[in-house]
Amino acid sequence: MKDTAPKPQDLLEIAVRVARDGAATARRMRAEGVSAVATKSTATDVVTAADRAVERQVIADLRVARPGDTVLGEEYGVSGDRPAAGAAVRWILDPIDGTVNYLYGLPNYAVSLAAEVDGVVVAGVVRNIATGTEWTATLGGGAYRDGHRLHGSAETDLAQALVGTGFGYDPARRLHQARVLLGLIARVRDIRRAGAAAIDLCLAAEGAIDAYYEKGLNAWDQAAGGLVATEAGLVLGGLKGQPAGPDLVVAAPPALFGPLHDLLVELDAAGGP
Ligand code: IPD
Repeated sequence: MKDTAPKPQDLLEIAVRVARDGAATARRMRAEGVSAVATKSTATDVVTAADRAVERQVIADLRVARPGDTVLGEEYGVSGDRPAAGAAVRWILDPIDGTVNYLYGLPNYAVSLAAEVDGVVVAGVVRNIATGTEWTATLGGGAYRDGHRLHGSAETDLAQALVGTGFGYDPARRLHQARVLLGLIARVRDIRRAGAAAIDLCLAAEGAIDAYYEKGLNAWDQAAGGLVATEAGLVLGGLKGQPAGPDLVVAAPPALFGPLHDLLVELDAAGGP
């Protein structure tokens, strides 16, 4: 990172402030009543007025705090076109990760906001909008849940592992993901599908689940939670040496990563539509 690059801790402070304000807006809007306002990739991939309002608010707040940065958001794509002098900072935002939970009132949905400097995620916050639980991390500075340092699970046996995962919105992809699950479920303790990838990564970081994998995640689903996971000591990657990405995200403590990776290769978890 260049000497002129902003410090991860400074970016985290901005991220936390802006994410808290965004979460407050989402909470207020939910209390006022929520409905799906549109669908995106498929009929079950919904977007609410709150997703859009929170994204607009976060973009506006970031523009005030750091005028030269760009923002990649789930709902509006890339905004900000003035390249910063010195290091390039890109913010990666999911205004409400777990939109279906938000719609149904299941208290597991979050604002996820990460700051990337020259292509490397250096700070991230995931804030559960319903409960106020907040996970944060800075590159090299550790991962925290509400101020408590995180270290991931100590489990070493995949057969005893509680494994989180999720499903995409495309029915063909879901079928492939279900087939993978069929091969996995008898070889682990159990699985969890909590409905918000950013929170899943944080739950793996704190050891509330032992490991997590999912195909089809976008940058905004994994940027902040991925940093929380790696800073808690987890290995984050794809299959066969690939980085974590749309083909597959696997997050697991070092002792579980290899066995889970090999099982996911055997089950062709990164394949299919
Ligand atoms: C979704 C959630 C879900 C995961 C999907 C994501 P959204 O994000 O994180 O848990 O399984 O892959 O698309 O649509 O709620 O922002």
